[in-house]
Amino acid sequence: MKRLNTYLSPLEKIENHEIILLIDTFRATTTINTLFHLGAKEVLVTDDIEKSYDLRRKGYILCGERKSKKIDDFDYSNSPTELFKFKNSFKNKKVLLNTTNGAKTFKFVNKVSNIIALGLVNLSKVEKQIENYNDIGIVCSGLYGNYSLEDHYTAYRIINKISNNFKNKNDSTILTENISMSKNIIKKANHFYNLKKLNLEEDIEFCLEEDKFKTFPYSDKNSNIFKMI
Ligand code: MLT
Repeated sequence: MKRLNTYLSPLEKIENHEIILLIDTFRATTTINTLFHLGAKEVLVTDDIEKSYDLRRKGYILCGERKSKKIDDFDYSNSPTELFKFKNSFKNKKVLLNTTNGAKTFKFVNKVSNIIALGLVNLSKVEKQIENYNDIGIVCSGLYGNYSLEDHYTAYRIINKISNNFKNKNDSTILTENISMSKNIIKKANHFYNLKKLNLEEDIEFCLEEDKFKTFPYSDKNSNIFKMI
């Protein structure tokens, strides 16, 4: 029986699935998709700052944030609009992304399963590519371990598109397919306010735009790295 499990917080007991769709709408999975759209060869995800500086010596461009602000001495922040301003800098390059929530969730989930980076920006592409999968997990990175509205909204959008094909669903999937969520609710989200306070409205708009890209970033279990397939 085809299985679709949703985990609304990264602290739930996440099982192994054929594939896990990892969501961090604001902004890590949007940034990963942006980097591939701009031609990056691979995106290595880590939450370790010292290791990031070491990897710079191996040719990685460093992108990342703490509390949504660029990490000292990194090349770029975790900001899709900033990356777009330097759009010719990433073609065929190895990029490292170090973030507060998304990277931590990735690190844990990648030990359990293969992963696809899902944002609203690549929703339809992911829907198409996962047609033949029989066992899918959806993990929301949330905010500091807690539920977040913007990640649930992205989960809601993909669940609406695919859940009819699945018979075996956990309660969070059933809840989500039975509620109606409007994108406007994100304007009340905690992380919406965090980004707004830092004048990152352009990023907010960017992250909320559906189907901007046709990217499908894939990470093999235990690889720590996304590639485009
Ligand atoms: C994260 O992974 O914590 C985020 O993407 C935070 C952010 O940069 O807005």
